[in-house]
Amino acid sequence: MKNIQSYIKDHKQRFINELIDLLKIPSISADSAYKNDVLKTADAIKISLEKAGCDTVEICKTDGYPIVYGEKIIDKNLPTVLVYGHYDVQPPDPLNLWNSPPFEPVIKKTELHPEGAIFARGACDDKGQMYMHVKAMEFMTSTNQLPCNVKFMIEGEEEVGSSNLAIFVKNNQEKLRNDVILISDTGMIAQDVPSITTGLRGLSYVEVEVTGPNRDLHSGLYGGAVANPINILAKMIASLHDENNHITIPGFYDKVEELSKEERAEMAKAPFNLENYQKALNIEAVYGETGYTTNERNSIRPTLDVNGIWGGYTGEGAKTVIASKAFAKISMRLVPHQDWEDITQLFKTHFESIAPKGVTVNVKPHHGGQGYVTPIDSIGYQAASKAYQDTFGKTPIPQRSGGSIPIVSLFEQELKSKTILMGFGLDSDAIHSPNEHFGIFNYLKGIETIPLFYKYFTELSK
Ligand code: BES
Ligand code: MN
Ligand code: MN
Repeated sequence: MKNIQSYIKDHKQRFINELIDLLKIPSISADSAYKNDVLKTADAIKISLEKAGCDTVEICKTDGYPIVYGEKIIDKNLPTVLVYGHYDVQPPDPLNLWNSPPFEPVIKKTELHPEGAIFARGACDDKGQMYMHVKAMEFMTSTNQLPCNVKFMIEGEEEVGSSNLAIFVKNNQEKLRNDVILISDTGMIAQDVPSITTGLRGLSYVEVEVTGPNRDLHSGLYGGAVANPINILAKMIASLHDENNHITIPGFYDKVEELSKEERAEMAKAPFNLENYQKALNIEAVYGETGYTTNERNSIRPTLDVNGIWGGYTGEGAKTVIASKAFAKISMRLVPHQDWEDITQLFKTHFESIAPKGVTVNVKPHHGGQGYVTPIDSIGYQAASKAYQDTFGKTPIPQRSGGSIPIVSLFEQELKSKTILMGFGLDSDAIHSPNEHFGIFNYLKGIETIPLFYKYFTELSK
């Protein structure tokens, strides 16, 4: 594409500065203390879309945080690309593990990012990746190279389940009508190994509460004679996996898609170094379901993980007590065909059934969503593949990811269009963790690759 490289060269510093300004606003959707900051971020996105050349931009109110919608329709007969992203971020906790404050972005060089990376919460997930699309749009409109229609839909509740976006999509099918949905909110294999995400896992997230005696008890006077909810909860959770790390909930695997030998062999071709993987995490061995590789365990296989567990005395010193209650938050990552509501029900029924007499169990479903797989023979995938070939000089590898963007399957269901996941982050960019960062190389490569997607998608649609 004419001039994209020189445009990036000329505007590089401004592109970085603008992203840094956006990263300074703590748009933490999970914490209501940051309400004004989340709203302020929506306003900033609106202004940036207007500057990038959208004809109309609106802040669409919802029962939660607003959706920023913008569009530029150049010709009704041309295809329409709908860009989705999110402007909300995860809470930065634990703060003491950050090397610099999460909302005071700094650029630092790392081993994988010799050109520097921006360190801040949301740098990669998803402000940085979402903003690549805004800058790609700016390039296309200001150089008269926008080949088709564009719609932007940037939400502020992805990290908390997108429930209001789901309603918005159902109620605005005509407005959101498109030929392909484009998202950068995933990753790629390595700086020199571009990949396109072809699958996302589904999710079922539940909270469990185990109640024993009606009050906290002296652990000497009552210990050994009544069920200790924390002991019981630990036992119940441990029983959810067998010795092969298979999940023991009856029916859990019934709908799991089994990949063919050929598909697994194809997957195994993706570059992966177990030693480096272990070294990066400082672990001596990996752990997981018998019979599957690490890459299979974290993409095509379902999982069950405790995300948090609490109860009893956790303050300084010791307190001899048997708590009345114990709690845990549990997530299950699901694969295509597993229905998240069915799985939530299976979990609830099973978890209640394994509770011994002497305790009561309450399972509270949180949010969830379906998994997603996209074919590689679609026009959208082919257009993305050609775009990466131009900018990386290599054919990107199709790769299923372990993460979830639940709204993607709803897009397909309601809007009847496929989503192309062009992610430019690295797994080591520490999304959701302390010291999240996004490589300057990745940011600029994204801005360079996106306009080519538009070009090829429009050409292939003819
Ligand atoms: N962008 C991530 C999902 C992701 C990251 C997918 C990397 C693939 C590769 C998204 O913001 C996210 O964190 N999703 C949540 C689910 C949501 C319902 C809170 C997740 O996967 O835990
Ligand atoms: Mn994200
Ligand atoms: Mn996220």
